Amino acid sequence: MAKIQHHPTRPIYPTPVGLITSCDAEGNPNIITLGEVFNLSIKDPVWVGLAIRKATYSHGLISQQKEFVVNLPTTALLDQALQCGSVSGRDGVNKFEEFGLTPVAAQQVEPPLIGECPINLECRLVNIVEVGDHDLFIGEVLVEHVEESLFDEQGQLALEKLDPIVMMRWGFCRVGERIIPDIK
Ligand SMILES: Cc1cc2nc3c(=O)[nH]c(=O)nc-3n(C[C@H](O)[C@H](O)[C@H](O)COP(=O)(O)O)c2cc1C
Repeated sequence: MAKIQHHPTRPIYPTPVGLITSCDAEGNPNIITLGEVFNLSIKDPVWVGLAIRKATYSHGLISQQKEFVVNLPTTALLDQALQCGSVSGRDGVNKFEEFGLTPVAAQQVEPPLIGECPINLECRLVNIVEVGDHDLFIGEVLVEHVEESLFDEQGQLALEKLDPIVMMRWGFCRVGERIIPDIK
């Protein structure tokens, strides 16, 4: 292989697109689109990470209220994902109403789930760490909601049906062809 040295931006791929819900002290909800969504601690406890810029409205909401929900959209929600990532809730926009998304009450946190997303993770903020041009928000997953039709007859999650939006570098892709069975 002949390799060239390339300027790295978003060098690790793929990452899922997440729609993160938060709310203000009065319970008004907001949505931010993130490409930087990670697993951090995978079983005991289950902690996830989000990289959010200080300039966003969501950064302040989650810092203050210390709760958020990670909603994982399907590719059918690509337009809404781009829209939620192109306007700020700081400008008074209710992104649920504006972009036709349905707020559903969560069980343990104030921010709502996005009804159209097949997977929703209710999270409590654990810590915020400054990391270069973003801040890393670490959250403990309290409840995971999974759309029931995504399970097969054996009770296994049918990965082929998840249809997440993934980012590879700066592009958007579809994934989901299983190549071997689960390793655990
Ligand atoms: C596909 C996509 C991925 C994005 N990823 C991030 C991200 O990982 N971190 C971030 O701070 N902003 C990210 N953004 C930008 C925010 O979504 C955008 O600034 C948004 O308008 C902030 O909303 P808010 O001010 O209501 O919180 C992304 C936008 C898009 C469209």
